[in-house]
Amino acid sequence: MSAKEKLAHTMEFPPDTEQPNVYPLSWPSKTRKMEEIWSAAQRETWDPEALPWDTFDPESYSWEEREAIAYWWTLLSVFDGSAPPVFAAAMIKTYEDHEEDPVRSCFFSVTRDEHNHEQVCRLAITKLLGSPGPLDHEPRSELGRKAQRNARWLYYNGGRYWNGYKTAVPKYSLAVLFSSFLMGEIAAATIFQQMAANSTEPVFTEAFRNIGRDEGRHMAICMSLMERDYPHLSEADKEVITKQIRAGYMFLSAVLFEPPEDFWDLPEDFISVQRECEEVARMAGFGVPTYEAKKENWRNAMLNLKGVLDKYDTPFPAIPEVGITGKEITDIEMEDIIPVF
Ligand SMILES: [Fe+2]
Ligand SMILES: [Fe+2]
Repeated sequence: MSAKEKLAHTMEFPPDTEQPNVYPLSWPSKTRKMEEIWSAAQRETWDPEALPWDTFDPESYSWEEREAIAYWWTLLSVFDGSAPPVFAAAMIKTYEDHEEDPVRSCFFSVTRDEHNHEQVCRLAITKLLGSPGPLDHEPRSELGRKAQRNARWLYYNGGRYWNGYKTAVPKYSLAVLFSSFLMGEIAAATIFQQMAANSTEPVFTEAFRNIGRDEGRHMAICMSLMERDYPHLSEADKEVITKQIRAGYMFLSAVLFEPPEDFWDLPEDFISVQRECEEVARMAGFGVPTYEAKKENWRNAMLNLKGVLDKYDTPFPAIPEVGITGKEITDIEMEDIIPVF
């Protein structure tokens, strides 16, 4: 039968619609917790443009300080810049899978939130550097020049995972995808709260407080989906999850801790330049946590996640970098990773 052939005059009701079809035409709701999170997302919505940007005067900082703080926002952008399309793809999957309505809504809210976070990066970088692109900016200080080289390498590395992600989304169940998302959300919720507490500029404090609250909701979304789906995980799924947790650790360490050498392709002085930028930013009143505080935060996030996985008999990978023992996972490539922030 040709696709164009008209059927309506030959039968009373149309044939069944081929599945998966992207529009479910029903709004079932089973997971009460997800409805609550979606309502909270609606209540807590905010506008990055409406933050008190007029109280922030970049000219009161030296160029070195401006470029060091902009470097941190650029580092965040390497992750948050891809978050809107990454979650938009996951949201489409919730529609194709005919997920319950609050799950679809929650993924919509994450997409919107991540777009807000990305917009904060845009506004902060534009204010600090006077131009909307950190890679096109003409550095004004020696540290700014080194920071830009770091940023170029980060951008190059981050650019390698989108194709892998696009093939992973249709291949894996939402349950597998959530476990990768969750680790980013757990750690992000804490780090942004720390940054809110330690930043002196009101605009950054408020931005970090809002972002931290959003990340807390994202974490709750992943948690409730895990509670719903993890009791029915297959052994094959468990294996993928263990590997993805290790991959997520390697990937997200770059922003939440420090990038592991064997996974990130970076110049030798990368870490020392990043530490120098963070020190200058911290001294200028921008609340990047210290090496020790980041390590502690990251380790706690891993232990939290381990607690969740243990509950569902899913092996946790060894993370010797922060002193966590578990299943040895090797040969992870940038192309293998799902996690986002
Ligand atoms: Fe985010
Ligand atoms: Fe998030």
